[in-house]
Amino acid sequence: PRVGVIVVAAGSGTRLGAGAPKAFVGIDGSSILRHALSGVFAAPLAQVVIVAPAGREGDALSEALATAGDRRELVSVVAGGDTRQASVAAGLAALWADVEVVLVHDAARALTPADVFERVIAAIDGGAAGAIPVLPVIDTLKRVTGDEIVAAVDRAELAAAQTPQGFRRDVLDTAYAAAAADFTDDAALVAESGHPVAAVPGHPLAFKITTAADLDRARHLLAEPAP
Ligand code: C5P
Repeated sequence: PRVGVIVVAAGSGTRLGAGAPKAFVGIDGSSILRHALSGVFAAPLAQVVIVAPAGREGDALSEALATAGDRRELVSVVAGGDTRQASVAAGLAALWADVEVVLVHDAARALTPADVFERVIAAIDGGAAGAIPVLPVIDTLKRVTGDEIVAAVDRAELAAAQTPQGFRRDVLDTAYAAAAADFTDDAALVAESGHPVAAVPGHPLAFKITTAADLDRARHLLAEPAP
């Protein structure tokens, strides 16, 4: 299928506290966005839509052209919205008519290996309406109300969701057209619209850079010699 990737990079990065929109914060010599895009361009794609902070579209395009190699003509840049969901919606509106499968990827998951993209695409190829990478939950989890533990939660039936999250384009378009509430990921929105979403193995390196500690972790990982 013809795969389009929406890279959402319009977040403010308030929790990172780096004084710049998160996507443009450097990890090593390269920004979070540039690292994310080098993973994206390793996948077989027909279009890459970057959703940038409003006013920073030109900077996002420069980062993309620096990593796109001979696939520069596949890149589009649009401005994002106030929420992640609004940013994804802006990306969806910029997809070309012939894109059949959409992957939505957080730029903040800058070190996501190419095999995660491949697993998600393979699941949709195999007939799934949607597929997302997940990792087992490591911590023991509790349900709390205020400062009181009200229940234990069986972590065996839980998973941590990552990106890229992939969907048949018609499924994602319909889910976004119908979305009433604000959801924190696309799988929740698609599930709400009644479609099953498959789980494929995620990867520890697909962690989201959110806090200064996450950024430190990414810096250390890039500084380590490859195994
Ligand atoms: O805020 P959070 O960490 O969940 O953001 C996940 C991804 O969504 C990030 O890559 C961020 O740039 C993007 N985002 C966006 N527009 C927003 C908020 C977040 O594109 N308004």
